[in-house]
Amino acid sequence: MKILRCRDYEEMSRVAAQSIVEGIKDKADLVLGLATGKTPLGLYRLLVEAYQRGEVDFSRVTTFNLDEYYPLAPTHPRSFRSFMDKHLFSQVNIRRERTHLPNGAALDPAREAERYERAIFAAGGIDLQVLGIGRNGHIGFNEPGTALGSLTQKIQLHPESVAASRADFDSETEVPRYAISMGIRTIMLSRRILLLASGADKAAILARALQGPVGSQVPASVLQLHPDLTVVVDEPAGRVLFSEAQSVWDEVVAAKDL
Ligand code: F6R
Repeated sequence: MKILRCRDYEEMSRVAAQSIVEGIKDKADLVLGLATGKTPLGLYRLLVEAYQRGEVDFSRVTTFNLDEYYPLAPTHPRSFRSFMDKHLFSQVNIRRERTHLPNGAALDPAREAERYERAIFAAGGIDLQVLGIGRNGHIGFNEPGTALGSLTQKIQLHPESVAASRADFDSETEVPRYAISMGIRTIMLSRRILLLASGADKAAILARALQGPVGSQVPASVLQLHPDLTVVVDEPAGRVLFSEAQSVWDEVVAAKDL
């Protein structure tokens, strides 16, 4: 695991954008896994700017998003499809048919999940997966308790996730209670993972995920086992992580002095 410590949200976004731009330069037909939410907004803005400056070409890139609310039509203004169209896809030269999200309007969510899993496989698997982390430790919408070996499936949202989505919808009753999400195993099969964390409200869970025991109660903890994980974290989100790392280091230094 590599941890890149950034001053603030802007620097975290810049480091993440740089890594994706380099990934596309190395492999023009990169298969990129994407996340929605507040965390990657700066990253998407910087990718759009890099595209406008002619620094990156998305024409051969394929994307797979982690998740989509269920049931929710892709055309709904609060769908993750609409989010991605707005913040990234409509502003760069990516081909629409190469952008994939689970279909939140599918009549049979289990079949849709299977179709999505097969589409990822048919594309050759995900080269680079961008992740955020939920305050309850979820990745994608894999809530605490989700089996670590899970594939893409319909998931019931944790009350905390419903509450986190509340602001995006007009009323409490409109907030979807389910999502179709890549599974934990699906995510772990990505060749590289870029986990982004920003803000003090992520500090405690990030430290638990990266330094605590690996288990389904904190789904993000499984990332400790990934062979190519880079964590890009700003100071507020890294507060607990870095203070614990610092005290371990202080003990090492003190022991050496004895
Ligand atoms: C989004 C997703 C979620 C978010 C997580 C953090 O597609 O799958 O796991 O990454 O809930 O959300 P924010 O970034 O809004 O704090």
